[in-house]
Amino acid sequence: MKLAIVEDDINMRKSLEIALGEYDEFEVVSFKSAKDALKKLDDSIDLIITDINMPQMDGIEFLRELNGKYEALIITGNATLNKAIDSIRLGVKDFLTKPFEIETLVEAIYRAKKEREVLSKSIKKQKINKVAENKSFIATSPALEGALKLVNKAAKTDASILLLGESGVGKELFANYVHNNSPRANAPFVAINMAAIPENLLESELFGYEKGAFTDATEGRAGKFESANGGSIFLDEIGEMPIGLQAKLLRVLQEKEVVRLGSSKPIKIDIRFIAATNADIQKKIKAGEFREDLFFRLQTVPVNIPPLRERVEEIIPLCEWKLEQVDNQYGVGKKTWGEGAKEQLLSYNWPGNIRELLSVVERAAILCEDDTIMPEDLFLSSRESGGKKKIANLEEELIYEALKSSNSDVDEACEILGMKKEVLLSKIKKYNIKL
Ligand SMILES: Nc1ncnc2c1ncn2[C@@H]1O[C@H](COP(=O)(O)OP(=O)(O)OP(=O)(O)O)[C@@H](O)[C@H]1O
Ligand SMILES: [Mg+2]
Repeated sequence: MKLAIVEDDINMRKSLEIALGEYDEFEVVSFKSAKDALKKLDDSIDLIITDINMPQMDGIEFLRELNGKYEALIITGNATLNKAIDSIRLGVKDFLTKPFEIETLVEAIYRAKKEREVLSKSIKKQKINKVAENKSFIATSPALEGALKLVNKAAKTDASILLLGESGVGKELFANYVHNNSPRANAPFVAINMAAIPENLLESELFGYEKGAFTDATEGRAGKFESANGGSIFLDEIGEMPIGLQAKLLRVLQEKEVVRLGSSKPIKIDIRFIAATNADIQKKIKAGEFREDLFFRLQTVPVNIPPLRERVEEIIPLCEWKLEQVDNQYGVGKKTWGEGAKEQLLSYNWPGNIRELLSVVERAAILCEDDTIMPEDLFLSSRESGGKKKIANLEEELIYEALKSSNSDVDEACEILGMKKEVLLSKIKKYNIKL
C-alpha cells in the first residue's frame, strides 16, 4: 500500500515516516505542504494521511482540491476538530485526534484497505442512486418535536424560515421537507450555498446577467432567484453572505423583484425563502458582518434544530435505517449489534451530528465480521484524544535515529531534524539519550 503523508510539522512528519516505515506492506512518501502534494501526487497513491492545520493551504481545502480522487484519512488537533468534522462531507470516513497511538493510525489504514476490498467484491455496488438515498426522515425524539411542529405549520404558509443548528443536524433535509410540504411542492426547489461559491461569482449566480455584463458574458443567463420562481429558494450558510450582497438580497425580499447584472429592468419573482446557518448570526450582527434588517426578514419563523446529542432517542432508529440502506446499496447483508456497540453509539457526543453518525454506521456495516457490529468497528475512540503510547513519544525515537545516522554529530542531527541546537540538546537531556 502506498501512503502519502501531508504534514507541515517536521517532527510529526518524520515520526510518522519512521513509524509507518516499520511495516513492510507500507510504502511511504511525505510532503511538507498541501501545495507540494498537489503537484506531485500520482495514481500510485492508495491513501492520503493529512493534517488539517497547515499554512497556505489547510487540509480541508486540500481535500476539496483533490475532489475525491484519493481516499483520505485525517489527523487533527483538538482545536481543529470542527474542521475535521467538515471533512466528513468531503467523504473522509475516519479521523484521528492528536495525540494518538501509532497502532490506531495503522488500524485506520487497514480499515480503509479492507473497505475497498469488501466494496470491490460487492455485487450491488452503488445501485441505488444518490437522490433516492436520503429522502426519508427519522424524527422521534422529544427534542425535535417542537421544531417539527413549527416547521409543519410554517410550511403551509409563505413565511420565510431560518433554520438554525450545528453542522450535520439536518438543516438541508428540513429545507427540503418545508418545500415538499408547502403549496409550492410541485414548483422548483433551488439550493445555493453561500460558503461554496467564490464571492465574485455569487452575485451573478444569484441574480443572473445580461449579455455583455462582463467580459465572459457572451449570452444572458437567469440567476438562481429566477430559476426558483414559483417555488422555494434555499440560501444555505447565509451567515457567509458578503455584506455587499446582503443589501441586494434584502431588496429582493422586500420588492419581490430581481435585476440581472448589466440590466436595469426589474423582473418580478414569486419565491419562498428558506435560509440556514450554523454560524452565530447574533455575533455577526454585533461585529457588523451581518445586517440586522436582513436577519429579521429572513427569520419570520426561526427554527432551532437541536444537535444529535440532545436527541439520543433518534440514534438507534437512525442506525437501523442506515443499516438497511447500506444493505440495499452494497448487499452487505443484515447486521446485528455486538456487545457494547449500542452503548458506544449512545455515549459518544457526535459533534458532526447525523452526518457523522450515518458515516460511522455505514463504515462499520461494511467492515464488521460475522455480520455483527462491535465497538471496534465503530472506531469512535480514535476521535476522542488520549492514549497510552502517544505519537509525540516517537520524537524520542526520531532523535535517536537522527543521532545514529549522524554518528552522534549533534550539528548534523540538527540539520536532519530541522531543529535548533539548543532545542535538540535539551531534548537529548530530557530523553536521557547517550551520545
Ligand atoms: N432526521 C434525519 N433522518 C435521516 N437522515 C437525516 C436526518 N437528518 C439529517 N439526515 C442526513 O444527515 C446528513 C446531514 O444532513 P444535512 O445536510 O441536512 O445537515 P445540515 O444541517 O445542512 O449540515 P451543514 O450545516 O453541515 O450543512 C444528510 O445526509 C441528511 O440526509
Ligand atoms: Mg447543509
